[in-house]
Amino acid sequence: MSQQRLDKIIASQGKYSRSDVKKLARNGDITVNGKSVSDCGMKVDPEKDSITVCGESFGYSRFIYIMLNKPEGVVSASRSPGEKTVVDLVPEELYRDGLFPAGRLDKDTTGFVLITDDGAFAHDILSPKKHIEKTYIAQLDRPIGEAELDEFRSGITLGDGYECLPASISVLSDDGLIVEIKLREGKYHQIKRMAAACGSHVNKLHRVSMGGLELDGSLNPGECRLLDDTELAKIKEV
Ligand code: URA
Repeated sequence: MSQQRLDKIIASQGKYSRSDVKKLARNGDITVNGKSVSDCGMKVDPEKDSITVCGESFGYSRFIYIMLNKPEGVVSASRSPGEKTVVDLVPEELYRDGLFPAGRLDKDTTGFVLITDDGAFAHDILSPKKHIEKTYIAQLDRPIGEAELDEFRSGITLGDGYECLPASISVLSDDGLIVEIKLREGKYHQIKRMAAACGSHVNKLHRVSMGGLELDGSLNPGECRLLDDTELAKIKEV
């Protein structure tokens, strides 16, 4: 990794903001290679230089993993001229080059998007072989019936002839309009097309979990936060 500003590197790991770093440096609480550092604009290489913060060795993670509660109207891309993207929602202190969404939600779909710069991890969880389970809550325009539930569970054939893997589905509301769907694949507009193949329309779609990790309910739409190692491991669990 190349050299970067010390405050940027420390803030990138989520525990301290850039202004915290400034204060810590002023108090002599940051060392680089054994020497106290007051200039937090100093350039360091976190993979080569030894950094301590408040007497503790600073654990730097090469890659970053961010959970976003995606709002409606934002596109799942790194860049899209004229449109707001999920990466545009990453706050400055967490932003770094190379961030992208690991898997896409439609512009009008809300919920859990994982943003990372770790291509191998993204490939690992999304490749057809290992594809993790993703859970969605869908609001349909008409009550779902037993025949449609059976179709979802046995594998729906989409309008273009693609045969979906069997999906898990359960009805969450008494009126039969709200369902929970678990998928292990991620074709374009998959849930909307599965519903359409059964004569229904999806009015609202929200992703609530990726693998064994649920969307943090304290994140408002548009907010995001870093994942820790335990949470990251949970993504691969289911
Ligand atoms: N299925 C869809 O139709 N859209 C999404 O955004 C995700 C799954």
